Amino acid sequence: MGTKEINLIEVDDLTKDYGHGRGVFDVTFNVKEGEVFGFLGPNGAGKSTTIRHIMGFSKPQKGQTRILGMESFGNYFRFLGDVGYLPGEIVLPEGLTGWEFLQMMGDLRNLHDNTRLKMLLERFKLNPKGETKRMSLGDKRKLAIVAAFMNDPKVLILDEPTSGLDPVMQQVFIDYIKEEKKRGKTILLSSHMFNEVEATCDRIAIIKDGRIVSMFDANSIKHNENKNFFIKFKKKDEFDKFLKLLPVSKKRKIKVSKPYINKIDKNSKSLIAYCNDKDINQLVPLLSDYQIETFSENKVTLQDYFMQFYREDKNFGGVF
Ligand SMILES: Nc1ncnc2c1ncn2[C@@H]1O[C@H](COP(=O)(O)OP(=O)(O)OP(=O)(O)O)[C@@H](O)[C@H]1O
Ligand SMILES: [Mg+2]
Repeated sequence: MGTKEINLIEVDDLTKDYGHGRGVFDVTFNVKEGEVFGFLGPNGAGKSTTIRHIMGFSKPQKGQTRILGMESFGNYFRFLGDVGYLPGEIVLPEGLTGWEFLQMMGDLRNLHDNTRLKMLLERFKLNPKGETKRMSLGDKRKLAIVAAFMNDPKVLILDEPTSGLDPVMQQVFIDYIKEEKKRGKTILLSSHMFNEVEATCDRIAIIKDGRIVSMFDANSIKHNENKNFFIKFKKKDEFDKFLKLLPVSKKRKIKVSKPYINKIDKNSKSLIAYCNDKDINQLVPLLSDYQIETFSENKVTLQDYFMQFYREDKNFGGVF
């Protein structure tokens, strides 16, 4: 009955404290074979730090990371052939042409067949003839993409892969990821781009200040019928009375079905109430006893949900 689920990437309680609250703390998640896992978070949240540990470049202070069942640290050359890594910052060795760099990366992985390399160059429209140091930002990124994928690795670890690519190339990249997903690849993708995460990922974790603050199935966003209702009251006493009817939540939860109040603005006698469509009859009839000035609804998208972590809006409890 069914195949056993295997975790190809495992992060258990990973902690690296750089001091002054910087670093990553008790980060735990797994990426299953064939899964595309999105890793989202604002600048400095800890995405690259986590990924560097997964790649074995850095030793955890606490906890462990494993890749293909092997402890990451100390085993880089054992898993190198099966893992394509695209770093967040591309640093290419100086004094090489693009071709020479690709040759070097191919040799490192004992690559003899150039079919895939040619396909990738064509697809990403890259001519690697010139010297790497004279390449544009986008070409450097493309060169790193080709180098990471040319041996058709089983696991792809991509740290903000589309930064520096123009919109057309971003789309080419997203399409490529979708195909790789269909071919059964296991992918970890860190990103700031909602569209690429929404288009490709099965599961998403949000990291902030070094800690995972939210983890959910991408389907819960795609099919979500959760809404935020903006309600502005005419009368202060009615506004105050209404506030007592629903619970007020500041918690960021993933699944809450009952309506509750997200945000209150006493000055303008307005609030934002969260509600799932199926529970709408628990919210709207309540309003019939009140004089309402404005009433509007907004679907909660991944972008809305994610933006609250950027804005540091402590009162907003966006929820799926
Ligand atoms: N080697 C290091 N020494 C000290 N602090 C570090 C080191 N590497 C990262 N940090 C700090 O750890 C935190 C997490 O950084 P990290 O690069 O992992 O963030 P990120 O989520 O990848 O951000 P971005 O979206 O900007 O790429 C930051 O505060 C950063 O300054
Ligand atoms: Mg980073």
